[in-house]
This record gives sequence, C-alpha cells and structure tokens, in this order.
Amino acid sequence: MPEGATLFERACRGVRGERTPVWIMRQAGRYLPEYRALREKVDFIMATKTPEVAARITLQPMERYPLDAAILFADIMTPLEGMGVGVEFAPGPLIAQPVRSLAQARSLRALDPHESVPFVLDALRLVRSELAADRALIAFAGAPFTLFCYTVEGGGSKDFMEARSFLRAEPEAASELLDLLGTSMAAYLVAQAQAGADALMLFDSWVGLLGPDSYRRFALPVLQRTLSRVRAEVDRPIIYFANGGSTLLEAVVEVGADVVGVDWTLPLSSAVQRIGALAVVQGNLDPAALFAPRAELGTAIDTVLEEGAAAAAHVFNLGHGIHRTTDPDQVAFLVDRVHERSAKIASASSVSAGT
Ligand code: CP3
Repeated sequence: MPEGATLFERACRGVRGERTPVWIMRQAGRYLPEYRALREKVDFIMATKTPEVAARITLQPMERYPLDAAILFADIMTPLEGMGVGVEFAPGPLIAQPVRSLAQARSLRALDPHESVPFVLDALRLVRSELAADRALIAFAGAPFTLFCYTVEGGGSKDFMEARSFLRAEPEAASELLDLLGTSMAAYLVAQAQAGADALMLFDSWVGLLGPDSYRRFALPVLQRTLSRVRAEVDRPIIYFANGGSTLLEAVVEVGADVVGVDWTLPLSSAVQRIGALAVVQGNLDPAALFAPRAELGTAIDTVLEEGAAAAAHVFNLGHGIHRTTDPDQVAFLVDRVHERSAKIASASSVSAGT
C-alpha cells in the first residue's frame, strides 16, 4: 500500500481504521441544488467534456459533506464515442446506431484514452490537485457486459432483451464486442490511474439480468481479462459493483476485485457470508431509506454498519445510486452517523482486543 494512503484506500485493501469510510454512488448529481444550478448553464455532455466544470461538479459534494472519497463526474458512456459509438443523453444514454451485426462490431475501434478522452484525464488531475490529501479520488468505467447492453440495445431498457438475445444469436459478434469493450475499459482505467485516481471502480449495472451460468459464460471471463490488464500496469484497489447481483455473488468473487459492491436487496451479513469474511464489501443501504424519518434512517444505517463488521473491511455506501429527489440534509445526517457510529464500534472492538 502506498505511503500516506487514505482511510478509504486502506479499507479497500482490507485494513480497518478508526472509522468506516463513506461515499455515495451518484454523489455528484441532481439531488444537489448546486449541481442543478450549474447544469442550467451547461448541458450534460459539455459538463463531462470540460475539465474545469467536471472537476467543479466532482468537488460539490466534497465541499458540502465530509465524504471520504470523491468520484469523478463523468458517465459510463463517456469513453464510447472514442470507440466509434455515438451517444446522446436524454437524460439516460441513447445510441443512434446500435451494434447489431459482426460487421458493425468490427467497425468499432479500441479506445485510445489519451487521444479520445483527454478531458477526463485533465479533470482527474484538476480534482486531485484540489482535493484534500486525506480524501481519495475514485475513477470508474462501465463493466464490459453493461456497456454491451447499451451498445446493442441502443438505450435503456427494463430487460435488455435485444442485447441478451444477441449474445445467443450472434455469439461471434457478441464476443468480439465484449472483448473490445474489455480491452478499451482496461486502457481507460489505467490512463485514469496514471492521471491521479487512487482507486478504480467498474459499474456492472445490468449484469443482474444474467443468471449465474450465463454470468460465468458471458460476463466473467472478459471481466477477469480486464482486471488482469489493469493490474499488469497499475497498483490501485479495484471495486466491482454487480447491481442486481444477489444471485451471482459466488461468481462475483471470481472476478478478483479488491472490493465487492453489494446492492440493497440482501442483508450485508448474508453477502459477507457468501463472499467470505476475508473480502472487503461496499454498500448497501437502500437509497429509499433516505426518505425515512431520521430515527428510522439512523437505525437502518446502524444495521448496515453492524453487518459490515463481519467483513475484513467495509466501505459504507448506498446499495445503488442516490435518487434525484433525495433531501441533501438527509445525506449530511447519513455521513455524520456513519462516522460517529463506526468510530464507536471501532474503539469498542480495539478495547476488547486489548489494542
Ligand atoms: O456521482 C457520481 O457517481 C459520478 C457520476 C456518474 C454519473 N453516471 C453521472 C450522471 C456515474 C458514476 C455514472 C455511472 C452510470 N451512468 C451508470 C452506472 C451506475 C448505475 O447507476 O448503475 C449508468 C448505468 C449510467 C448511464 C446513465 N447516465 C443513466 C441511466 C443516466 C440517466 C439517469 C437518470 O436517473 O435519469 C445517465 C445520466 C447521468 N449520469 C446523470 C448524471 C449526474 C444525469 C444527467 C443530468 O444532469 O441530467
């Protein structure tokens, strides 16, 4: 572990500190009035492509709350343009020419991050230079299967039937596309680490649509290759989040990430039991819990912390992205509660361990 590693990075490596680190998926976004104010002046794509604006938005939640990590403001779809996939946002991603054939898959190119997304790398450098040294900076990419879903379907969907049937109907095209996404995202993550990211995260938002056998067949091998490529180049903790992955956890362990993101559909204690107590987990408060009265929210937070205590280490987070109608004051309460409560748990366990 690098010297001066933050509390968050130490937790990612399985080392418990004086309290549990916390950050929130989609923390830089529409529930914040300052984000909405900025977005009135700049559209979403322009905001992601202008390093000063992306850096500003990334830092907005850091200025409001004592969060332990920042996550770069960008989108999982941001690097696809550089591969030849045109993407618009309305506000979810839309692809005018979805990939539906081997010829189309072969017309795409591998991402060169320095050439196609220099603005992301510049935004990371800017954020790292402004962020306090004891706060970590997370960079991310979409996992190959989730990017495959959007690229083939052409946009959001309840079941991504077009994409999932393409896996079976056009196996050669599907496998080439998944591979190209994997090598491209590996290069993207490496470049982001070299630009100053302290940790790397892969979002597999739609992989819960696969059962365990299909996961092992279509998603896992390309994920494993992606992680080995990244690890061959840079030493950063890697977080893998399989949304809707409660039936997949045993297979998710085989990805080999440092931290397993857990969604809110199962108790964190069951996840730890299935993943193994040597694992580091991230999660998993239901984003809807932020709409409960304070007393109920407090209890829900405490439960997640207590259940996370069974893992090697725990990074507190929601079980998926924060909803855009969430009251920002509830987030302030959450961050303080996690810090206070986990500091008590940590000091009680060091007393009982005689340390
Ligand atoms: O704060 C952060 O977490 C960093 C920024 C971030 C965004 N998108 C900004 C964004 C991150 C990490 C993402 C990842 C992302 N994008 C995922 C994976 C995580 C997940 O939620 O499963 C996915 C599937 C996308 C694709 C995407 N982009 C969707 C579905 C949407 C629409 C969301 C909605 O609720 O309507 C987007 C747009 C988007 N990405 C917004 C933001 C802040 C809203 C854009 C706006 O300002 O109108």
